[in-house]
Amino acid sequence: MRTDAARPVRLEDYRPPDWLVETVDLDVALDPSATRVRATLRLTPNPQAAAPAPVVLDGDGLTLTGLKLDGAALAPAHFAATPDRLTIAQPPNRPFRLEVETVIDPSANTQLMGLYRSRGTYCTQCEPEGFRRITYFPDRPDVMAVFTTRIEAPKAQAPVLLANGNLVQSGDVAGTDRHFAVWHDPFPKPSYLFALVGGELACVEDGLRTASGREVTLRIYVEPGKQGRCAYAMDSLKRAMRWDEEAFGREYDLDIFMIVAVSDFNMGAMENKGLNVFNDKYVLATPETATDADFANIEAIIAHEYFHNWTGNRITCRDWFQLCLKEGLTVFRDQEFSADQRSRPVERINDVRGLRAHQFVEDAGPLAHPVRPALYHEINNFYTATVYEKGAEVVRSLKVLLGPDGFRRGMDLFFARHDGTAATVDDFIACFADATGTDLGQFMRWYSQAGTPELAVTGSFDARAGTYRLDVAQTVPPTPGQPVKEPMVIPLALGLVGRDGRDLPLVTADGRQLERGVATISEAAQRLEFVGIAERPVLSLNRGFSAPIKVSANISAEDLSFLAARDPDPFNRWQAVQTLATAVLVENVAALRAGRAERADDGFLAAIAAILADTTLEPAFVAAAITLPSEADIARDIGRDVDPDAILAARAALRATIGRRFAAVLDELHGRLADSGPYSPDAASAGRRTLKNACLDLMAATGAASAVALAARQYAAADNMTDRMAALATLSLLDVAERAAALDDFYRRFEDDPLVIDKWFSLQATIPQAATLDRVRALTAHPKFSAANPNRVRALVGAFAHGNQTQFNRPDGAGFAFVVDTVLALDARNPQVAARLLSAFKSWRVLEAGRRACAEAALKRVAAVDTLSRDVKDIAQRSLAGD
Ligand code: PHE
Ligand code: ZN
Repeated sequence: MRTDAARPVRLEDYRPPDWLVETVDLDVALDPSATRVRATLRLTPNPQAAAPAPVVLDGDGLTLTGLKLDGAALAPAHFAATPDRLTIAQPPNRPFRLEVETVIDPSANTQLMGLYRSRGTYCTQCEPEGFRRITYFPDRPDVMAVFTTRIEAPKAQAPVLLANGNLVQSGDVAGTDRHFAVWHDPFPKPSYLFALVGGELACVEDGLRTASGREVTLRIYVEPGKQGRCAYAMDSLKRAMRWDEEAFGREYDLDIFMIVAVSDFNMGAMENKGLNVFNDKYVLATPETATDADFANIEAIIAHEYFHNWTGNRITCRDWFQLCLKEGLTVFRDQEFSADQRSRPVERINDVRGLRAHQFVEDAGPLAHPVRPALYHEINNFYTATVYEKGAEVVRSLKVLLGPDGFRRGMDLFFARHDGTAATVDDFIACFADATGTDLGQFMRWYSQAGTPELAVTGSFDARAGTYRLDVAQTVPPTPGQPVKEPMVIPLALGLVGRDGRDLPLVTADGRQLERGVATISEAAQRLEFVGIAERPVLSLNRGFSAPIKVSANISAEDLSFLAARDPDPFNRWQAVQTLATAVLVENVAALRAGRAERADDGFLAAIAAILADTTLEPAFVAAAITLPSEADIARDIGRDVDPDAILAARAALRATIGRRFAAVLDELHGRLADSGPYSPDAASAGRRTLKNACLDLMAATGAASAVALAARQYAAADNMTDRMAALATLSLLDVAERAAALDDFYRRFEDDPLVIDKWFSLQATIPQAATLDRVRALTAHPKFSAANPNRVRALVGAFAHGNQTQFNRPDGAGFAFVVDTVLALDARNPQVAARLLSAFKSWRVLEAGRRACAEAALKRVAAVDTLSRDVKDIAQRSLAGD
């Protein structure tokens, strides 16, 4: 059991390490239950720390079987070894060699942290604190060492042996059935980037010549037989490598880049130096088994992990409080990559949708924390939407603030100044301040203050003076531990749209043009004034979502309809439709609860009509615009006393209204968008399918028999997973015979493909009907379900908890109870996955009183268990804090 003596960890307590590690030589003899690890560390006193100091190495559940100092066995009196610590109280005050031998059991490792087995393949996951489950080590990211790894295994069991860096030697172990490989990584790295893989794997190979002319071998390793599913991942990798050269001037640095796909993985993927390990769902894809969304995710995650080579690996984090330094920045980079590969406006809309759905919700609830937290009990619980997605938004805001050239100069300086080091967020921001001569002191509040800033804007036109005035007030709501907030620096991209749909010049009273259309808001209350405005313009705010904030403004429904049709900024065209839709939906939810009649908003329907009629728009954009805010979006907007059933009903009614009002247009579009040629995952083709399927869904929302029949036909005739899955999802919402038939057919077609069966699990778990809970419970006993596999758990129970608003939040509390039962059962096996599942309770406080009481009781049932993992305990306690 890990002791909690050293917790919590605080940013302000950071001290440089007493000892540095120059080199690590690992010698690993793989064995299913007794893998022997010999680690030889070249330790040297840190000149930056106060010497002499004891050597204290981290462990987690380790058994020490040997210890030598400079070649001589260390007497028991000179060291102390517990499962989670190895201490040498009086080491020599000079560099020395320490040989540490441990024996570990990869088959018993169900946490999937450290060395474990996935379907027989040996693999490792070390971020953030998994290396200490392999050997004793100063397991902190500011200790960077050069690793050499020798792996040995029976040839038949593990014909493929991989580790970070370049292969320097391999061969048979004479006179045995064993073989070995030696890998050397010349780049100093923290232990969390270490990786090793051994198993029976097939590989697909390709190559790329870097900008400076070096040849790099690219390999993707998969289970034998799955090579045919790697083409898109490989193509994405090559495009990502090229893009990083062009967009950021970053080249790859080793002779080989390897990706290994495994079936059992806690997260999406991991950026280990030269040897990325992936959840197989983000590698494997064919048109028959993967949707367009799957293809887009593969492209983004392959790129994300590759981009970490510079932002994360070459420049790493000083400590885990700086996690956003690598994650926020790398998400920003992968979002930019996807925007360049696909449609920039559509990518932006999707990213903002995701941000609002996950990060805004997190920021508004008990788990809110700053992008750079100041304290943690369990770092695994901080791989959050705030660190990743808001972290990316902050980088983007910086770019909006400084402009593309200033931003690039700052990035260049960051790479030049900090390459090969473990840096902080302050170091990062200092590069932009220095490169552009900007004071970014106040900007740092984005990293220290939690909560989503709110901007209230009042626009007023003075016809006689020909001026347009904006009165802007900003507030940041209180969050746990932060009752009072200071004003933020908000780069607010804006426009004044003339009646002809064109932007008016933004000239301030001093005669200057507002640079790049961006106003900098830095005070609690601020006034902006533009001159030379001849007619009343329509105000377009936070264009392109230039800052991760909530904006409210005195923009009439009529003006919103105008923006939906005419705003030159595509993001705000979409936003205008969403704002109109949200207003109708929120009103209708209240009406339903009060027993009043709902209204169909003519302004909103006119906006939809304008979007559908605009033939210049790309299909993916139209699809995004005619898709209503999700139930969770509506709940977030309502913000208190939430009744998920009323939200579902209001949303379903409005979908049906759109489906009826535009039946002919939708039907015509659906028919016209049907692809004739073979499936291609490219963005334009995917966009056509998205729109086609959005039309189908709206038509079916009316319950019309013709639409149901159309969905059933599309399901049966589909030659790709996108169309098949979309039709199935549409049918799944309807209580019709076609639904059960299609679900059964789907299972029979794909029963031997776990990743596709996950879709089958998820779809059933998200049906918003009372029977779903029993169905989900039954499916946990299905032969294709396994509590040991994180993908299965997320597909079934995760989808239910995170994706089924009405049934997870059942008024009788049975949804909560089921999820809590699952969390408690899972906790002993895999605390990380259990904790993530429990975070589905992150907005329990906004529920109406009855449901809220049930949720609270469920959380208290968790908190009362005294054998909880640190992970689950932390989430339970923070969720309940303040009670
Ligand atoms: N660092 C991984 C990423 O790219 C995520 C991860 C964290 C994976 C922890 C495994 C464990 O974002
Ligand atoms: Zn990452």
